[in-house]
Formats: sequence, C-alpha cells, structure tokens
Amino acid sequence: MVDTASREAFVEFERVQKSYDGETLVVKDLNLALPKGEFLTMLGPSGSGKTTCLMMLAGFETATHGDIRLDGVAINNIPPHKRGIGMVFQNYALFPHMTVAENLSFPLEVRKIGKSDREKKVKRALEMVQMGDFGGRRPAQLSGGQQQRIALARALVFEAELVLMDEPLGALDKQLREHMQFEIKRIADNLGITVVYVTHDQTEALTMSDRVAVFNDGKIQQLAPPDTLYEAPENSFVAQFIGENNTLEGKVREITNGVALVELDNGDLIDAKPINVSKPGERTRVSIRPERVEFNLDRLEEGSHTLKAEVQEFIYMGDIFRTRLKVAGKDDFIIKTRNAPDQVRLKPGEVVEIGWQAEDCRALDAN
Ligand SMILES: Nc1ncnc2c1ncn2[C@@H]1O[C@H](COP(=O)(O)OP(=O)(O)OP(=O)(O)O)[C@@H](O)[C@H]1O
Ligand SMILES: [Mg+2]
Repeated sequence: MVDTASREAFVEFERVQKSYDGETLVVKDLNLALPKGEFLTMLGPSGSGKTTCLMMLAGFETATHGDIRLDGVAINNIPPHKRGIGMVFQNYALFPHMTVAENLSFPLEVRKIGKSDREKKVKRALEMVQMGDFGGRRPAQLSGGQQQRIALARALVFEAELVLMDEPLGALDKQLREHMQFEIKRIADNLGITVVYVTHDQTEALTMSDRVAVFNDGKIQQLAPPDTLYEAPENSFVAQFIGENNTLEGKVREITNGVALVELDNGDLIDAKPINVSKPGERTRVSIRPERVEFNLDRLEEGSHTLKAEVQEFIYMGDIFRTRLKVAGKDDFIIKTRNAPDQVRLKPGEVVEIGWQAEDCRALDAN
C-alpha cells in the first residue's frame, strides 16, 4: 500500500505515541510528514514532547506505538551509522579535551573514513560556518557563538541529509542568537538539507521555518507556514501562543453570511469569523491581533459593531505606538499602531470606540 503522501515524505511520523512509564502518554498520536529540504520547527511550551519526538527520530528513544520512517524505511531498521542524521544540542556537547578539528574529525573516524578524506571534510565544514582558522583551538578557547558554530559544523561534517537541532541557540545572547538564526537558515538552504528544529522561542520559529508544528500536551495543535499560523490560528492555544493577541469571551448569538455575532459577557456585541463555533449559544473566545484593531471608524464597514474603550496607557516604542485600553471590563486590551506623521496618539483617560473587520477577529474554542 503506497499512497502519494508517504512516497514523497522524507521524514514521517505515523500515529506515533510515546510513554516513558507505560502509563502517561507524553506524545499522543503524532502524524507528521516532511519533504526533503524542508526546515520544520517544533515549537511549544516546556514538557510538550518536542525533545522526545526528536530523540525518537534520532533513534535514541523508541516509539511506544506507531512508525517513524526516514526515506520510507522504519528508523528502527536502519543501523545508527547509516541513518545519516546530524544532531546539534543546546549545550554544544563538544569534547573539551579535543581541538575543534578533532571534534569534527571524530564522527568521521567512527564512520571509518580515511585520514585525507577526513581532513578535507573537516576543512570544508569549518569553512561553511566561517571558522576555517580555528581548527587548532580547544572549545574552551572559543566564545559561545563560535562553539555553537563548531557544533553545527560537526553536525554537517558527514554530509548528513537530515539535521536535528534541539534549542541550539538557547545559551546565546539575543544579538548572537539572531545572527545564528540567519546563519543556520542560510547554510541549510544552501546545502538543501532537511532540518527538524526545536525551540520554545516563537520569533525564532517564525523567522527560520518553512513550516512550524505547534506542540502542546503531546499533540500537534497546528502545522502550518509561519504566516498562516499567525494570521489563521486554528484554536485558542495557537492564537495565544503565537504572537500578541487580544481575547474576549462570550457566546455566539447568531451566524449569518459567514459572520458570527458574539455577545460578550458584559452584553456588548461584536463581529467575528466563526472558526471553532457553528451554532448560537456556543461559548467562544474571540481573538484579535493588536495591529488589526481600528479606532478610526471611517475605515470600518457600515453597520460594524464597535466597543467602547478607555485608554489606560500609551507607550511610545519608536517604530510603533502601543496603547493599552480597558475593553469589556478588562484592562489588558492592546492596540498597536504604526508611527506615521498623521497617526493619532491616544491619551490616558480618553474614551474611544474601537472595532475591526469581522474577517480579522476569530471566534475560537472557549478552552
Ligand atoms: N527520559 C525520560 N523519562 C521519563 N519522562 C521523561 C523523560 N524525558 C522526558 N520525559 C517527560 O516527557 C514529557 C515531555 O518531555 P520533553 O523533553 O519531550 O519536552 P520538551 O517539549 O522538549 O520540553 P522543554 O521545552 O522543556 O525541553 C515531560 O513531561 C517530561 O517530564
Ligand atoms: Mg526539550
């Protein structure tokens, strides 16, 4: 039985479950297929099962149920040295007593590659991460970012087609982290390698990935390209986990022409796009991005519902203005506006009407 999806997948999880203690499932029915060359990120809170999935893919842990396949072959049936998987961990895991070149040469020796071949490959891998002059140093003589590059080079040195990275940039400061995000992405694209990357930093996930799998509670909540994830979250968890987001709670009064009229708990009415709701009476949590809220009501369609909002705080952030308002009894509603010459700066105490296009406001599950 060969279906198209599995024939094209380079990495594939099919109905994978994992329990460490035989009781609780830390990975629940995971399905995931990656084509060759994809950069996929597993993003999710601590304990959601990301590392466990990576370890099963690397063959360090076995799945309790289900199959994991690499190029169509079950991972359990491929001997470790033939898996061709490079790994980069958060703490580099370089051998302190070896030089940089020896660190890189080691996985090649294990694979019984001859000396002159080894030297060529090590040189090439070091050049790839712009560390060509550092072969003779020991890890302790390098900065954090340089050590991270060496760890990356070591994963690339045996020309792995699949590289797994578990929070590889977690130990770096912000600036270096952003630089390395760019570097890793560039190298992966240039080499055409397939990457499964783990992080709990959503910005990192959004900027680096072709697709992101959002994990929570051992399940993929949504698997989508970054823009879809941000603009069209499929449930409340994803809406709240990815980017900044305003939420309001209420129940559906009616759904007409693809627009849900939602009655908030304080009695106010708003328009939203029905996503996880289908009938009147259902409870919902609506989600609206701070940059999609309008207080210039001329920009809204005639007949749109609006809410009264009282400005609590105005923060000048340079490129944008961030205004916090009290809306429907809660004082954590955020509006972001671009700093443009004609942009209005709202003042604390001011009372305004706010609204949005129904399309931009998603009526999600109430969980
Ligand atoms: N070797 C182990 N034995 C028993 N339980 C484990 C083991 N490794 C992980 N777990 C448990 O499995 C669950 C998932 O852990 P995992 O390490 O996969 O999470 P994670 O998403 O990588 O989290 P983090 O972001 O904190 O690294 C957690 O509840 C964890 O305690
Ligand atoms: Mg982890």
